[in-house]
Amino acid sequence: MASAPAFTDAAETWNRRYAGDDFLFGTAPNAWLREQVSHLPQGGRVLCVADGEGRNSVWLARQGFRVEAFDIASRAVEKAEAFARREGASVRYAVADVDGYDWPEAALDGVVAIFVQFADPQTRTRLFERMVRSLRPGGVLILQGYTPRQLDYRTGGPPLLSHLYTRELLETAFASLSLIELREYEADVQEGQGHSGYSALIGLVARR
Ligand SMILES: C[S@@+](CC[C@H](N)C(=O)[O-])C[C@H]1O[C@@H](n2cnc3c(N)ncnc32)[C@H](O)[C@@H]1O
Repeated sequence: MASAPAFTDAAETWNRRYAGDDFLFGTAPNAWLREQVSHLPQGGRVLCVADGEGRNSVWLARQGFRVEAFDIASRAVEKAEAFARREGASVRYAVADVDGYDWPEAALDGVVAIFVQFADPQTRTRLFERMVRSLRPGGVLILQGYTPRQLDYRTGGPPLLSHLYTRELLETAFASLSLIELREYEADVQEGQGHSGYSALIGLVARR
């Protein structure tokens, strides 16, 4: 019998990446999130999707939001919990994957999805639908990813065209939302060793 591909088990793969004591994507919040955070209702209930080691959830909690977060990697969630304790931040963490998370319905003031391009097209369809449905009317989505040009830079993200976002892909996926901002841009990103160097980015902010 042929052996399974090396990355079949996403949790194991990501736990291995997070095994060290350092923070793979750093401890500072993502720059797009920082820039766009004023669109989230102050003090609102916000979900951080596939939040990793907690850099975004902890920062949001420290800004006064009521934050919940999940990630498939138990090692990442352990590190996020410890980071939140150190920072005096209160976040409700869960170890879960996209399909196993207990998504609320039409309840969230904000959904934050920063570099969630682990999702192949089928998973992405389910993930984006869940994100939209979990927002209350008026709730805001903040999302950041890489565009196909990132395949030339290879400074972060999966080297898989089908996982990357174009403007058209995001416009179609979030057609039910009102766009506040959809920006394709290039910038130097320094987010730990995971995202490091000149990058082809796309950022979206949209309201349900
Ligand atoms: C590029 S990292 C980004 C982490 C975090 N959003 C950040 O910006 O620091 C992608 C994250 O997705 C998580 N992940 C991968 N597959 C997942 C899945 N099916 N469900 C939930 N999380 C997943 C990984 O464990 C990893 O933490």
